Amino acid sequence: MYTNPEILASLKKVEATRQERFNNRDNIKRMSAEEKDEILKAYHPDYKEENFENLVVGVNKGDKVPHELADMLQAHSRVKGKKIDLRHPKYDVDVLVIGGGGAGASAAIEAKNAGANVMLVTKLRLGDANSMMAEGGIQAADKPNDSPAIHYLDVMGGGHFANRPELVYKLVTEAPAAIQWLEHLGVEFDKTEDGTMVTTHGGGTSRKRMHACKDYSGAEIMRTLRDEVLNLGIPVVDFTAAIELIKDDEGKAAGAVLMNMETQELLVARAKCVVIATGGAGRMHYQGFPTSNHYGATADGLVLGYRAGAKLLYADTLQYHPTGAAYPEQILGALVTEKVRSLGAQLVNKDGVAYIHPLETRDVNASGIIRECSTRGEGVDTGTGKAVWLDTPMIEMIGGEGTIMKRIPAMYRMFAKYGIDIRKEPILVYPTLHYQNGGLEITPDGMTGVKNLFVAGEAVGGIHGRNRLMGNSLLDIIVFGRNAGVQSAKAAKNTKVGKLTLAHVAAFEKELKEAGIKTDKQSPKLLPNYIGKPLSFDK
Ligand code: FUM
Repeated sequence: MYTNPEILASLKKVEATRQERFNNRDNIKRMSAEEKDEILKAYHPDYKEENFENLVVGVNKGDKVPHELADMLQAHSRVKGKKIDLRHPKYDVDVLVIGGGGAGASAAIEAKNAGANVMLVTKLRLGDANSMMAEGGIQAADKPNDSPAIHYLDVMGGGHFANRPELVYKLVTEAPAAIQWLEHLGVEFDKTEDGTMVTTHGGGTSRKRMHACKDYSGAEIMRTLRDEVLNLGIPVVDFTAAIELIKDDEGKAAGAVLMNMETQELLVARAKCVVIATGGAGRMHYQGFPTSNHYGATADGLVLGYRAGAKLLYADTLQYHPTGAAYPEQILGALVTEKVRSLGAQLVNKDGVAYIHPLETRDVNASGIIRECSTRGEGVDTGTGKAVWLDTPMIEMIGGEGTIMKRIPAMYRMFAKYGIDIRKEPILVYPTLHYQNGGLEITPDGMTGVKNLFVAGEAVGGIHGRNRLMGNSLLDIIVFGRNAGVQSAKAAKNTKVGKLTLAHVAAFEKELKEAGIKTDKQSPKLLPNYIGKPLSFDK
């Protein structure tokens, strides 16, 4: 419920201009390439140079990353000073999957299907991940007016043509099969009465190819994948974090040191191949942004891979989802799915003006909101910050009564709890840290530069270039998760593990010392700390 007089005064202006905006909604112009470049450089957080620094150690030495990530990449290992008995591993498997989200589950399923002895380890529970929280949908070009080639062009354009073409090719050509695989496993996609998949646009898409399960797409997909992992009898070691990779004396990835999150007991897992599927980094709160991410999204995989010698790609580029909830304070930063805009809600400033096309790419729309809330009009004061309006009542003007409950019931419920009926009242939004565009570099078989170290999901860099389009993350966790499972199982068949070693960790510590890095930080971070005193595993 809105009670603040300033918010109410602005709300009146939004209501007063709604009918006219509705009538003229198809006349809002898209920005030119030059206008986009200009707004990004002026307002996007990736361009705020003071929030970045160059790495001084490791394979990406000299490359720019956010300060918060540099702190973790150049921190001490959690195994430093600990006695680790590498000769008596507690676990010995073909494929060790680190991470319990969609990419990890897909990798584990396909590694198992390919005959590997696979184990999945996760620092929280299976399914506690960004995948579970995804709302809007999953892209795949499987309608007659569409093709993987058109999908390819959209992905490349959205990523500012910085994407690795061979990875994008894999993403888009395997997308229709990914949808079929999920359907076959039991995912209930939205369909019309004759069984046709309901698809919508996302920002930057030239065809309606977003398949969804209302606005619970990630929950439905993760529910199904989790069931399949359990049905296949894949061992899941939960509440256990990977804190360091282990290599063998030939330099191949050969397992991980694990830490029980409750007891801090350290355990050794030996493996012929390792798949990093640790997800994103929203809980790093880069530049102080709130986040739409799961509690465990702390860039762990980037740290593990980096210390083992795997290269990062585009670690300086983050995605700020334009529409994070900005009011009420209890849900600050929570995701307001882009589907709200796909269904017709406009972005409207303090004065009731629709100042931008609602389906510009995310980086552009995030920059537009930041501009409205700084130099142009200052935005609506929410009490905790500035915001613009997302005019949700337009959805039912366009799609008819009942559209909101049918297509985005989660959004309705999220705001109804606080007395805001999004069918009748608009909502206040501001960008929220949503996705890590960059990550570990891989070849199309999913392997990093470290032999037998695979990566899948949000920890990969290069698929999405410098800006991901909506719905391509749920897609990449399936395509590249499955791929990592198949390829790691295949590699495991021809692998003989040598003597286990943590020599790379000692070498990294030496590099830190030689570079004059003085830090009391340990990494990976594992969990965010909101309590102002060390967490149990940080003591
Ligand atoms: O807006 C959304 O529903 C988010 C989707 C995505 O990040 O792919």
